[in-house]
Amino acid sequence: MKLSIFAAGFLVICAAIGVAMLVLHRPASEPNLVVSAGPTAPPASWPDYSANGSGFIRRVMPGGDLIAHGYKLISQTYAVIGPEVAAPAMRFAGNNFACQNCHLDGGTNRSALPLVGVYKTYPKFSARSNRVISLAERIDECMTRSMNGRKLRDDSREMAAFLAYLRFIAEPESVKAEPAPPAAQPASATRGAEVYVRVCAACHQPDGLGRRRGSSEAALGYEFPPLWGPDSYNDGAGMDQFLRAVGFIQHNMPRGTDPAHPQLSLQDAWDIEAFLQSKPRPHFDAAR
Ligand code: HEC
Ligand code: HEC
Repeated sequence: MKLSIFAAGFLVICAAIGVAMLVLHRPASEPNLVVSAGPTAPPASWPDYSANGSGFIRRVMPGGDLIAHGYKLISQTYAVIGPEVAAPAMRFAGNNFACQNCHLDGGTNRSALPLVGVYKTYPKFSARSNRVISLAERIDECMTRSMNGRKLRDDSREMAAFLAYLRFIAEPESVKAEPAPPAAQPASATRGAEVYVRVCAACHQPDGLGRRRGSSEAALGYEFPPLWGPDSYNDGAGMDQFLRAVGFIQHNMPRGTDPAHPQLSLQDAWDIEAFLQSKPRPHFDAAR
């Protein structure tokens, strides 16, 4: 690993990350980043980047403050650039999501759209844009689609912080999810509605609008994020792509699922996604 920019103490931590990068189920309200033993890896722990954490990173690492800010942006996006933050000029995200509502566990969860290792794969060709794009441009794609908001300014502290955090987790290699295989029967939104009531509604709520943390308007995000409706991701988002969503849902939902032993059958995951696709969500506006 080429991590010469980091202080020596962090090489130990980074090496531990190299051998173990797996799933931990923890309450959504717990902001500390801890990666524990997963099904196929030995335990490893990450530094605590949280606002009230040990400050370990900040003290020891060059750029530690910026990395910590980047972690906060990933884990509590709604509190820094969400639609309810005090300063209108800082309202870049259009919904109250956190990046890690999808890129679970600060982007370090191997089975949930991991951001580990992604830094080194950019600039890269984007089929969506039909040209080579930078990592900053890719972040802005999630800002305008998944977060239903607007682009960050390239010279902003926020973009620098996202990039610093992603550079910090640039090792080991990125892992891409395989597209979900076909199910035995065509997807059925009617069956999916039954799965929704049985499996998902307890957390994401019967109306699909999720459950806020604290009172609304307080910029505290969601305990359970919405699956559709005005405060969800828009119809241009990666999560609105059928097979990608099927894979994410089958391996990660209900939250806490061991991806090696999914609770949902492949057919259930296909059916539930057909149901989700029948629900309203904001429309992607390319002009934003
Ligand atoms: C609604 C779910 C969702 C949210 C919220 C979300 N993303 Fe994403 N993101 C995705 C999906 C889906 C992909 C596509 C993954 C792939 O290409 O395999 C993606 C891809 C990315 C990539 C490119 C990964 C790669 O392998 O090239 C980056 C970087 C990224 N997101 C950053 C962010 C950031 C930063 C935020 C918060 C500002 C965010 N995302 C919020 C769903 C989401
Ligand atoms: C035990 C509670 C629980 C159950 C049950 C559950 N989820 Fe989730 N789900 C969560 C939490 C919490 C998150 C956000 C994860 C985080 O921030 O760490 C989430 C995130 C998601 C996301 C990505 C973010 C978003 O809002 O779009 C999708 C998609 C999703 N869940 C779909 C489902 C589906 C479909 C089911 C039923 C098959 C389901 N979930 C069942 C708790 C749950």
